[in-house]
Amino acid sequence: MAIMLKGFALAFLVSFLSCHLISVPSQASSDDFLQCLREKMPSELVHAQGSSDFAAVLVSSIRNPKFFTDTTVRPLCILTPTDASHVQDAVRCGRWHGVRLRVRSGGHDYEGLSYRSARPEVFGVVDLANLRAVSVNKFESTAWVDSGATIGELYYAIAKNDPRMAFPAGLCPTMGVGGHFSGGGIGMMMRKHGLAIDKVLDAKLVNANGDLLDRAGMGEELFWAIRGGGGESFGIVLSWKVQLVHVPSAVAVFKIPKTLDQGAIDILTRWQEVGPLLPRDLTIRVIVQGQQALFQALYLGTCRSLVATMGYQFRELNMTSADCRSMTWLQFVVGNTDTPVEALLSRNTSLSTFTKNKSDYVRTAISKDVWRNIFSWFEMNGAGMIILEPHGGSMDSIHTAATPYPHRSGVLYNIQYVVFWQGDGTATTTWLGNFYDFMGNYVSKNPREAYVNYRDLDIGQNVVMDGVSTFDSGKVWGEQYFMSNFERLASVKAAVDPTDYFRNEQSIPPLLQEHR
Ligand SMILES: Cc1cc2nc3c(=O)[nH]c(=O)nc-3n(C[C@H](O)[C@H](O)[C@H](O)COP(=O)(O)OP(=O)(O)OC[C@H]3O[C@@H](n4cnc5c(N)ncnc54)[C@H](O)[C@@H]3O)c2cc1C
Ligand SMILES: *[C@@H]1O[C@H](CO)[C@@H](O)[C@H](O)[C@H]1NC(C)=O
Ligand SMILES: *[C@@H]1O[C@H](CO)[C@@H](O)[C@H](O)[C@H]1NC(C)=O
Ligand SMILES: *[C@@H]1O[C@H](CO)[C@@H](O)[C@H](O)[C@H]1NC(C)=O
Repeated sequence: MAIMLKGFALAFLVSFLSCHLISVPSQASSDDFLQCLREKMPSELVHAQGSSDFAAVLVSSIRNPKFFTDTTVRPLCILTPTDASHVQDAVRCGRWHGVRLRVRSGGHDYEGLSYRSARPEVFGVVDLANLRAVSVNKFESTAWVDSGATIGELYYAIAKNDPRMAFPAGLCPTMGVGGHFSGGGIGMMMRKHGLAIDKVLDAKLVNANGDLLDRAGMGEELFWAIRGGGGESFGIVLSWKVQLVHVPSAVAVFKIPKTLDQGAIDILTRWQEVGPLLPRDLTIRVIVQGQQALFQALYLGTCRSLVATMGYQFRELNMTSADCRSMTWLQFVVGNTDTPVEALLSRNTSLSTFTKNKSDYVRTAISKDVWRNIFSWFEMNGAGMIILEPHGGSMDSIHTAATPYPHRSGVLYNIQYVVFWQGDGTATTTWLGNFYDFMGNYVSKNPREAYVNYRDLDIGQNVVMDGVSTFDSGKVWGEQYFMSNFERLASVKAAVDPTDYFRNEQSIPPLLQEHR
């Protein structure tokens, strides 16, 4: 054991040193890079580390305080482009002077990879917050949305144009379109309409040469890869053309909590079978926290029809018309009917509590005895929580290789583990690690599937050799996120960015010829 650890430490040191020697540019090249940027774009869009507004720009979309500490590896500079040409120039300056770029849209990455590095590195950040137009085409029922828009801004613009149109994506209004679409986009309408990426028709991307390409220009393989293959790897996506979907003028919703005494375990055990088989208009997700399971539903129809459907299909929940509320889709996204829908336009985020998340997929229902055991884990930690998102419906009928998101046919539901803490998080994160190990017996295996948008660096990080992230190191985490699609993603990467300019700790490594 001791020898293994020593070997590991040595290997780590060597890879760290070689990475250091190869990828960290000299002070001179950093200065030249900044000089290059200032020549190409208005200087007020270049926020260098020493400048007075640097900290404010950096923190503007950070949610997790653990990534805003002094020990975090921060960018050399943050660019806030107002035009596509600025992004192209930033890539060209970066290539010329050997400085990498990371992209930030909404800054919600769970590991902060859009604005910090987990290891020593010199890099700039392209923050797309100023590039956030949404333009809806009523006649085509499509929209072009810039990556820097939040999902709340997109939903709002669509509904203002026509309240019976919407888009199937996630729930948190402040998430950026850029990162969210890059990883898939799980939401409450996916059982009917699929993920956000299933409705993307075209995109504009700046590649590693600084070229601006649309779908026809980038080709179908690259267009396939950017729809779910994870952010950062293939270039900077500036905007997306999406297909809108119809929603009724009112939807029906309920939130029903069940405690252990009220039969939470039996109902949850039953939900696993029912949830993925319900009519596509109905999604019931579950949040387990403390000794309670909260059943939260969105139904694309009336309360009356929802009560009837629940009576036939999921009697065990005992849902009645008293549980049901009818509201617009937009009001559902806001979360309650008292808050004005304009709240969706607020980009404010705050450095609230510390959090850490992980994910799993379940393909075989978990038994009642095991659920009893899971609830006892939550007795130990009141701050822990799991969110269960049912698949099935449309998710079952879309082929595994249609997009990089592979968790389709046969998946019952996704599990997201969430822990929150203030101050010292050691006990909480240890609890999460132990609970995740325990759950390993009951979730998908070989590979143990995970969702790239719930990014988790614990499942693996790239190793850089000769200046390039290695395929074998990427495979460790990559097959969990992408399963059989990983190798195809790595081939696309080799074709479009063989020198691995766009990279982070979990970017797709190039599958170079010598490994094939
Ligand atoms: C509170 C909260 C709620 C969430 N709810 C959901 C949910 O309901 N459903 C769901 O599926 N996910 C959800 N997520 C996860 C979310 O989808 C991801 O965190 C997503 O990556 C966020 O996108 P972003 O633009 O805000 O992140 P960023 O941090 O800006 O980017 C994430 C990653 O994508 C890269 N990237 C960003 N923009 C671009 C671009 N334009 N081109 C190329 N690469 C880019 C970044 O470099 C980084 O690697 C939630 C996250 C949070 C914090
Ligand atoms: C984990 O998920 C929760 C719920 O969606 C979210 O509030 C939190 O910000 C996430 N954690 C991180 C590290 O972003
Ligand atoms: C469901 O409701 C009925 C009648 O209101 C009640 O008798 C029963 O105990 C309830 N079951 C559960 C599991 O709550
Ligand atoms: C957002 O933040 C700004 C500046 O801190 C503040 O003036 C504004 O009231 C906030 N908006 C909301 C909706 O919280």
